[in-house]
Amino acid sequence: MITSGLTPVITEHWDKPDLYTIEGYRRVGGYQGLATAIKMDPDAIIGQIKDSGLRGRGGAGFPTGMKWGFVPQNDGKPHYLVVNADESEPGACKDIPIMLANPHALVEGVIIASYAIRASHAFIYIRGEVPHAIRKVAYAVEQARASGLIGENILGSGFSLDVVIHSGAGAYICGEETALLDSLEGYRGQPRLKPPFPAVAGLYASPTVINNAETIANIPYIVDRGVPWFRQFGTEKSPGFKVFSISGHVVRPGIYEAPLGITMSELLDYAGGIRGGGEVKFWLPGGSSVPMLTAEHLDIPLTYEDMAAAGTMLGTGTPMLFDNTVSVVKAVTRWLDFYKHESCGKCTPCREGTYWITGVLEKFEHGRGSAAEVDTLVNLCSQIAGRSFCALGDAAATPYPAALKYFRAEFEAATSTSADAQFDPVASYVFAEAATR
Ligand SMILES: Cc1cc2nc3c(=O)[nH]c(=O)nc-3n(C[C@H](O)[C@H](O)[C@H](O)COP(=O)(O)O)c2cc1C
Ligand code: SF4
Repeated sequence: MITSGLTPVITEHWDKPDLYTIEGYRRVGGYQGLATAIKMDPDAIIGQIKDSGLRGRGGAGFPTGMKWGFVPQNDGKPHYLVVNADESEPGACKDIPIMLANPHALVEGVIIASYAIRASHAFIYIRGEVPHAIRKVAYAVEQARASGLIGENILGSGFSLDVVIHSGAGAYICGEETALLDSLEGYRGQPRLKPPFPAVAGLYASPTVINNAETIANIPYIVDRGVPWFRQFGTEKSPGFKVFSISGHVVRPGIYEAPLGITMSELLDYAGGIRGGGEVKFWLPGGSSVPMLTAEHLDIPLTYEDMAAAGTMLGTGTPMLFDNTVSVVKAVTRWLDFYKHESCGKCTPCREGTYWITGVLEKFEHGRGSAAEVDTLVNLCSQIAGRSFCALGDAAATPYPAALKYFRAEFEAATSTSADAQFDPVASYVFAEAATR
């Protein structure tokens, strides 16, 4: 199995300036997957995606074929496909480049996936701050429609599909799949109670598959080139390739498409190493919602299973690397400030907890923490993790314990010995209040 080297597939032709047009995409084999799929039985496509072992690229790594298989058939209800292109995870920047450079891979994937799950309506939910990506995808949908690939009786198959592009208003929580559905229905985006899961009762209470944009962009290649081709990349439990977006203190930040199982050190070599010949201090494999690792973990394969064994997650597969100039205390404080701001407020542990944690962390940032508060923060995080309504709360409770595991001394050094800095909940609250003004 191939687990090293760069393996451009979705990104293979990004140097061609007209790839975003249907003509440019067709010139490199585009829409052949659809031509194959439309002659297949929809269940056979679901079976193929199951066999490929493709796992969702939105963060959780859930098996895509299995998710499609949950949609009840012959239930008399409309089915929907929703593409999650909200991409708001701090550090993640791979769905937007895919939409900009290769939007037809996404559109072709949407048509095939809709056909497989028997959906006649598909929605692509794109974050509103990226109008240039929205324009590119809208143009691709328009061209596909004009070519008879979207609309009535696609390629004479009897299958009809309409595709709607929806622009979000810029809330991180609207990337959470059920909040996204509320937002799409016109409500304030807040997570829904699960079960029922969207595959059974999703958009307009009908069976709905929600997949990440990169997940869907994989589909045409798998259908066109086959399962053995896809499975030659990656590992048994993490097959395929990944569009890794690398950011932080590397010489050449950017997009690197590589097989799952590649190590961070190899990817770091492609990215030119750490700036100024420096060293990695800490890094996160997939956005701020996954626990950080250190230089000692650079040779662990980037797979779902290996990252879990190392105490973190592959997440969105968008590594952020930080060198020795960065204060862990400051980095964690910035992330918590983000979660506090983005908490939707629906449940108490997350709404209140992110507020309190951020306030206490800001004391550390200004060298005013106390030794007792180092542990108080652990306690605050444990009141959120596993007790929140959705995974945003869990994500908010992640950065501090992970940072403490490796950099406890840095937090202890950010304490003040003066009596007024000893932990006092009221003082902390007042400080937090002041910090938010
Ligand atoms: C707070 C929060 C934000 C999320 N943001 C995104 C996002 O921007 N894009 C995305 O694909 N998934 C996001 N997810 C994960 C989705 O809920 C969902 O798991 C994913 O869209 C499923 O697609 P996949 O199976 O193809 O990975 C987010 C989850 C949470 C809890
Ligand atoms: S965990 Fe946070 S974002 Fe999720 S429902 Fe609760 S308050 Fe909202």
